[in-house]
Amino acid sequence: MTESCFDRAEFERLSRQRGLGLGRPLVTTALTASTNDDALSAAKAGAPHGATFVADQQTHGRGRRGRRWVSHPEEALLTSIVLRLELEPVRFGLLPLVAGLAVRAALSELLPAELDPVIRVKWPNDVWVSQKKIAGVLAESRIGGSRPAVVVGIGVNVASRELPEELRETATSLALLDVPCKRERLLAGVLACLELRLGLLSHDSGSIVSEFRQHDGLLGRRVRVDGTGGIADGIDHEGRLCLRLDSGERSDIRTASVELQD
Ligand code: BTN
Repeated sequence: MTESCFDRAEFERLSRQRGLGLGRPLVTTALTASTNDDALSAAKAGAPHGATFVADQQTHGRGRRGRRWVSHPEEALLTSIVLRLELEPVRFGLLPLVAGLAVRAALSELLPAELDPVIRVKWPNDVWVSQKKIAGVLAESRIGGSRPAVVVGIGVNVASRELPEELRETATSLALLDVPCKRERLLAGVLACLELRLGLLSHDSGSIVSEFRQHDGLLGRRVRVDGTGGIADGIDHEGRLCLRLDSGERSDIRTASVELQD
């Protein structure tokens, strides 16, 4: 079996430097079907909070709503983290948004300061830079071990210089933004930013809602959500997308596909 190129020693050095709790145990593989599957099976077998799975490449990487997540070997950060949280059930809807905010914050540490205003989150699970997708989040859950587990899967385009034809207009990568970055450093940053926000989630979810509003790429924009048109108006305390409908009514959406129309 080929060994992963992910530099564990470098990640562990960065992890100590940042005082990380997440990222332990760390399981790295060269090739897997999906790191979310690896993390879900491990969670079922009792893997602890913070267990993190990284692969150089996936054969069946998946996104929301049955979409595929495709990347070339070692060109993306492909990771899934097992989380066992004591949260009120209504807060779980915020979890993918918290992960998106963590990725946004980690990217903001790496990108030049003038790009900060254009690093946006797009409800529910994308991170964009200058209107192009750079990262996606897929949260899935399983019952197992002492506390129910949620797996947060994160894919970030890191080193890709050439994206598939069909993604060239809509996606980007750190390399295309001229920001060279190793996956080890990015993972340490994402986990540090995630840890900070998970701490807030249980007792100060209002700060998550306002951070989302501050970086919300849809806010005030005309969108179509599963066929219904309206203006996006932030998220509520359960992580639902608030929509001002053309009829003047409001609608709070839990899960959907959003298309921008302006
Ligand atoms: C999306 O954009 O719809 C979410 C994409 C999530 C992709 C990541 S890559 C690591 C983890 N493993 C998967 O199979 N999916 C997530």
